[in-house]
Amino acid sequence: MTNQPSRRAVLITGAAATAGAGAALLAGCGSGSGDEKPASARPTAASTTPAATKSPTNRPLAVLADIPVGGAVAAAGSDGAALIIAQPTAGTVAAFSARCTHRGCTVAPKDKRLECPCHGSAFAAATGKVITGPAPRPLAKVDVHVAAGQVLPGPA
Ligand code: FES
Repeated sequence: MTNQPSRRAVLITGAAATAGAGAALLAGCGSGSGDEKPASARPTAASTTPAATKSPTNRPLAVLADIPVGGAVAAAGSDGAALIIAQPTAGTVAAFSARCTHRGCTVAPKDKRLECPCHGSAFAAATGKVITGPAPRPLAKVDVHVAAGQVLPGPA
């Protein structure tokens, strides 16, 4: 017997599983481990965050009630980019790229700080400003606004 029927069956199964996405098939054939960042630096989806997966542009990024006042939560932007959404004071929000300005690892909220697991930088959750280096700059701001208790992408 040859391997052709088996190989074809695998390809058909793979195509069906990915709804015919050729790119996904190619990705599945690779190592799948192209992300060189530590697992702890990868974006994490908060269970209470509605945008845990990539979402269309106007989908909520977070529910305001899930964000601690004075703290922040991790979220995913409309494009899937890792974000931090903070609630500096009750009812106000600020959002930042979760990408550390040192070498690009993903920061994570911890109390009133955003901590980078790679080299120890820390940022203020409310402002994104550097508390502890080596990060040279604040986290990049991202426009968000609140409507009906939900944090939405873009300016108000
Ligand atoms: Fe964040 Fe180095 S990448 S401290």
